[in-house]
Amino acid sequence: MPLLPGFVAASAVGAAYFGAWRVLNGRRRVGEPPLVRGSLPHLGVALAFGRDSNRYLNHCRAQHGDVFTLLIAGQRMTFVLDPLSFGGVLKNPDLSFGPIASDVMDKAFDLPNMHGTFDVEKSDDAARRYLKTPALTPLSERMGAALTRVLGELEKTRLAGASGEADLYRLVWDLMFAAGTDALFGDGKFCPEAAAAFGDLDRDFPLMVAGMPKMMTRKGAAGLEKLVPLFEDLGPAASQWMRARLAIFRQVEPKKVGRVQTSVLWAVHANSIPAAFWTLAFLLVDPAAAAGIQIEVDEVLSGAGPESGDGAIRIEQLDAMVRLESAVREALRLSSGSLTVRKVVDATSIETRSGYWKVRRGDRVCLAPHLTHHDPGVFEDPERFVVDRFLVRDGQRPQFTKDGERVGFAFMPFGAGKSMCPGRFFAVNEVKLLVATLLRRYTFDAPTEPLPAHDLSRVGLGIFPPKSELSVTWRRRAPPR
Ligand code: HEM
Repeated sequence: MPLLPGFVAASAVGAAYFGAWRVLNGRRRVGEPPLVRGSLPHLGVALAFGRDSNRYLNHCRAQHGDVFTLLIAGQRMTFVLDPLSFGGVLKNPDLSFGPIASDVMDKAFDLPNMHGTFDVEKSDDAARRYLKTPALTPLSERMGAALTRVLGELEKTRLAGASGEADLYRLVWDLMFAAGTDALFGDGKFCPEAAAAFGDLDRDFPLMVAGMPKMMTRKGAAGLEKLVPLFEDLGPAASQWMRARLAIFRQVEPKKVGRVQTSVLWAVHANSIPAAFWTLAFLLVDPAAAAGIQIEVDEVLSGAGPESGDGAIRIEQLDAMVRLESAVREALRLSSGSLTVRKVVDATSIETRSGYWKVRRGDRVCLAPHLTHHDPGVFEDPERFVVDRFLVRDGQRPQFTKDGERVGFAFMPFGAGKSMCPGRFFAVNEVKLLVATLLRRYTFDAPTEPLPAHDLSRVGLGIFPPKSELSVTWRRRAPPR
């Protein structure tokens, strides 16, 4: 799952050992990357980094080049910012993802000793196997049907009538959480209590994952405890992935199963919901792009609209929405704040374009793909939403280059290497389904207010949620013929 310490927060604890720690870790040794210590005991540069990581990393890059080590809240973190050097990090056998994942399970989901509790390899294999074709087809179609059903329920309440105003993030959140939970975990697993508890957990997640004292994360911890019993088992017609997982957890006690399942509930929703919001939001402020996508959706779905059968979109139809797919990817490019992090399990040197750099056992090595996503050397006019930027033409995905070299890791909202998101195909499908389902039934006026800012407190955790709401005017379309 997307991770990383809410760096700023991770601060207040344990400055007592700072003197000794600084002597050991706070000096640069021969062959190591430039070291940025900051002046605050223990915190190092946590505050500046936490305020706006993009800006801070760019500032450090201007001073030190593409590879440097930051001292952040007691941790040495080496950043490698050149996407052409990412391969050297991802293939280094002394850099491991396992300890990072265990740490998250312990701190955020109160499940220490993940590896001693269940077969992590088997569980990872199940995710890779059941979140891609062929299992992806029934899962996506169930998601489409669930979205149509949940939207139908909202049309009796919040979306009743011919037109109205809605808070876009709330609307997207409610649709995606209800539909995604039932599609994956089984019918009836969504309930308002689960939604409220998830909201509390997700809000406090950056603090929890940073290991903050419990008194600062009471609501999130209470949310977790409410979710655990709700997700110890599955509802009818649960996805193949979930059924395979439960078979792996057969020997594990139910409370712990509930914790592992809640961690996956978080991975399922925490990024997809903001991704769906940003895709719609970028489209709504770009009426030409929105009109193009609406035409594509209508053309693909003509003759198979919500009025026919259960209204669910078939997988071939979803696959045919290629412009919409490009729009989703472009929204992901612009709203991702994830970091790809590895722990150094044995002292090693990392290979980069600027040479070999030594890192110490216990250090973390981080890739920051969001900097690549905004790099004008890789993406032309990077701050602009270009709806066709990722359009597949003649079966070819667009390639991106830097300094004349092809960048294999230009687009990385789903991470890379061992920890790459196994849910990426489903994630893109569910966002497409949400947008197509809404655009099939509604038109939206371009919002009069600017798009909200990113909630930067969630750096490292995946797609940034919006910092505030976006009010939109919707109008019901005449039923498609
Ligand atoms: C736009 C939506 C999504 C984004 C941007 C996203 C991104 C990510 C990233 C960056 C990671 C790797 C974290 C790391 O390297 O530390 C990850 C892991 C993971 N994601 Fe996603 N994800 C999304 C949706 C989903 C969905 C829908 C599912 C499931 C259906 C899912 C399941 C997982 C799981 C199980 C992991 C953990 C993998 C592991 O621990 O090895 N994700 N995701």
